[in-house]
Formats: sequence, structure tokens, C-alpha cells
Amino acid sequence: MSIHIPRGTQDILPGTSELWQYVEAKAQDICRRYNYKEIRTPIFEHTELFQRGVGDTTDIVQKETYTFLDRGDRSLTLRPEGTASVTRAFVENKLYGNPGQPTKLYYIGPMFRYERPQSGRMRQFVQFGIEALGSNDPAIDAEVMALAMEFYRELGLSGLKLVINSLGDTDSRIAHREALINHFKPRINEFCSDCQQRLEKNPLRILDCKKDRDHELMATAPSILDYLNEESVAYFEKVKQHLDAMGISYVVDQTLVRGLDYYNHTAFEIMIEGEGFGAITTLCGGGRYNGLVEEIGGPETPGIGFALSIERLLMALKAANIDIPIEQTIDCYLVALGEEAKDKSASLLFELRKAGLSAEKDYLDKKVKAQFKAADRLEAKFTAVLGDNELAANKINVKEMSTGEQVEVSLDDFITYMQDRLKEE
Ligand code: HAM
Repeated sequence: MSIHIPRGTQDILPGTSELWQYVEAKAQDICRRYNYKEIRTPIFEHTELFQRGVGDTTDIVQKETYTFLDRGDRSLTLRPEGTASVTRAFVENKLYGNPGQPTKLYYIGPMFRYERPQSGRMRQFVQFGIEALGSNDPAIDAEVMALAMEFYRELGLSGLKLVINSLGDTDSRIAHREALINHFKPRINEFCSDCQQRLEKNPLRILDCKKDRDHELMATAPSILDYLNEESVAYFEKVKQHLDAMGISYVVDQTLVRGLDYYNHTAFEIMIEGEGFGAITTLCGGGRYNGLVEEIGGPETPGIGFALSIERLLMALKAANIDIPIEQTIDCYLVALGEEAKDKSASLLFELRKAGLSAEKDYLDKKVKAQFKAADRLEAKFTAVLGDNELAANKINVKEMSTGEQVEVSLDDFITYMQDRLKEE
């Protein structure tokens, strides 16, 4: 019996992996310009990190984590997201003590959520995310959103909608929480069992419920924006002013609450509009999480960030018919005729590669015609033909494929000749 790939995962094969490399390079480049440095954290963490960080009343932690006991009976969880891990690393490595705050980090790596797989929703997916820790300046909220929006724009995507909301500070949230409890309590028995539990523990999560989304009380639920205190209102206004000044358009949606518990103040999502894109239209999500660093055991430190999945990004690029330029060519294909020439071509190939060229030869004992075909398939810029006669004369025949021009070169000069020719290109 053959063994199949687990549901909700995918193999990324040559032909597609180039697309991944391309967008990952774009992510690295924009992070360089915005001065975010790469962090790599483990794929698994102690389960407690996500219970405390992401929140144990969230769907992610209650229903979607891959949690297991290791051989030492420790409960570990495959990371469902990156923010909790980055915060843990920030605290553990005392990055808050470094000069040059805020600490601005980015990551690209696999995340795991046990969700019902569908197009754009995987059980293993790759997030590109950034986190800025240590600044309470509304300008950095705008910077984080600007980086995400620019990343998409530079890749050629249009029709994106930045949706923002404020969840306010702790005081605002306590007032809003009371209002939510009063709103839902009289009719809470009409809601699912999860929501009934959420009522006292974390009523904000009710607004995020997928089952009760259409209940009439959802639409009339008290809005956080009516409970923001003066400071929170002023903060949100500043964030919007910065976005306006950057010319980044957005809409305010007071029902946007996000699915993770650590958020306060700014919350945002980037949605894609238009056809060719299925039910899932959220490309990116993020927000401010002042308080998370303390929750993980560090000093009081504000934070903000976002994450987006490469899977959804590639879907969006495909739906928009955006062609990604992929360099498929190789510099030189070595065609060998005769036993001695074949032997010699192996070490010549080694020298070419050592000199920085991309080069290939035949390993299947193919006839000359088939070797030329292979060179074509690889879109070789040059083919170099070595027969036993050439070998005896210490020569090799170099053909430029685009012009058909052929030159006989001494084998001693071959490598430098190829280097020079490619420099001309
Ligand atoms: P999130 O909204 O849970 O936030 O996920 C962010 C993004 O990850 C989504 O907008 C989507 O692009 C992608 N994503 C999530 N689940 C899946 C899935 N099952 N399959 C494919 N893509 C998926 C977070 O993860 C927060 N850590 C973001 C953040 C960073 N907030 C502050 N800093």
C-alpha cells in the first residue's frame, strides 16, 4: 500500500518552489528596507506558551493545535503562529536589553493548525510575519501596516482592502466586556456551548464565533469603539493620521476582533476583493499586543506585528494572473561524445561550477541528439561539445544557443573563456 501526504499539507515541487523563493526573497528585501531582522525559533514549543500567549479560550488553542507528549512526558505543541514564540525568544534572550530599541524582527516558516482543509486553509502553512517590540508610537502601527500593504503592492497585487479597528486599552476592554456580557447573557442559551463558556471567560470571543455568526444579537452587539477611553481614542486617531499621511487607504470595521487573545489597541486585516478568489478573503492579520511580553514573563513591553501566509499570497497572485519572473536557464551544458570525452566532461563540469557557472551534463549515456535536447530543455545559454577528436587536440567547441555562433577554444582556456562570455551577457 502506498503512503499518502497528510491532509491539509502539500509538496512544493520544482516549478513551484521557484515561486516560493521569489516571494520569500521579496519579503526579505522589504524587511531589509524597513530594518526588520530575521529570527528563527523552534517549530515546537512548550504547550503552555500558546495557552498563555494565544489564549486558552481561542479556537486556535482549544481546537486547532497539534499537541503531543514527547518521550520525556513533556507536553509540546507545534507552533500555530509566530508571535508567542518570538515574544518568548525576546524575553528569554533579553533582547529588550539590547541597544537600538525597538526590536524589529521578521520570520518566514511553517505553522500548524488542525483546521478543516480547504483552498487557502492548510494544516501546515508558511507565515511571513513581523514583530516590533518596545515602542508605543502610533507611527510604528502605521509602519507595520505599510510594510504589509507595500509587500503586496510591490508583488503587483491590487484590490486589497486594509480593515482596521481599535480594541482599546485594558480599561476600555473591561468596560466593553461588561457591556458584552449584559448584551448576550439574557439569551446566551440560544448560542453554542463554546459561546456559553466564552460569556464569562472571554465574551469578545463570541463575536468571533463561526457557528453563531448570523444570530441577530451579533449585529447589535456593543461596539468596542463606543467604549474606548480618551487615551485609546487619541491613539487610534494618531494611527489613522499616519496612514493618511502615507496615502494608505483603509476602512474602519468595528466588528473586527481577531482570533487571538493578545490583542489590544490597533487590530487589522488585509482582505482581497474580486473574482477568482474563493471563500477565504483574508490575506493578512495583525495588531498590537501590549501586555504579551509580561504574560510570558518579561518586562512591560509593547508590541505590534502581522502575519500572512505564503499559500494565500500565491493564490492571490494566481487569481490576479500576475506572472512571476522565474530564471530557469543554465549557463552551460556539456555535450560529450566518446568514452574519454565523457570522463573528461565530469571534471570539466566540476571546474565550471567552481568558477561560478550553472552547468550540467548527461548522466544517462544519452546519444548526442538527446544531449542537445536536454540542453534545450534546460534553456542552456551555451553548449560545449567535447568529442574524442577535440580532446586529442586539447580543444572544445562552444556554441552560443541564441545566435548559433560556434567557437573552438583551447581546453586550457575554456573556463576563463566561459566566464568572460557570461560577463558580456
Ligand atoms: P492569524 O490571523 O491567525 O494571526 O494568521 C495570520 C495569517 O496567517 C492569516 O491572515 C492567513 O494569511 C494565514 N493563515 C492562518 N491560518 C491559515 C491556514 N490554516 N492556512 C493558510 N493560511 C493561514 C496570527 O497568526 C498572528 N500571529 C499575527 C500577528 C503577528 N499578530 C501580531 N503579530
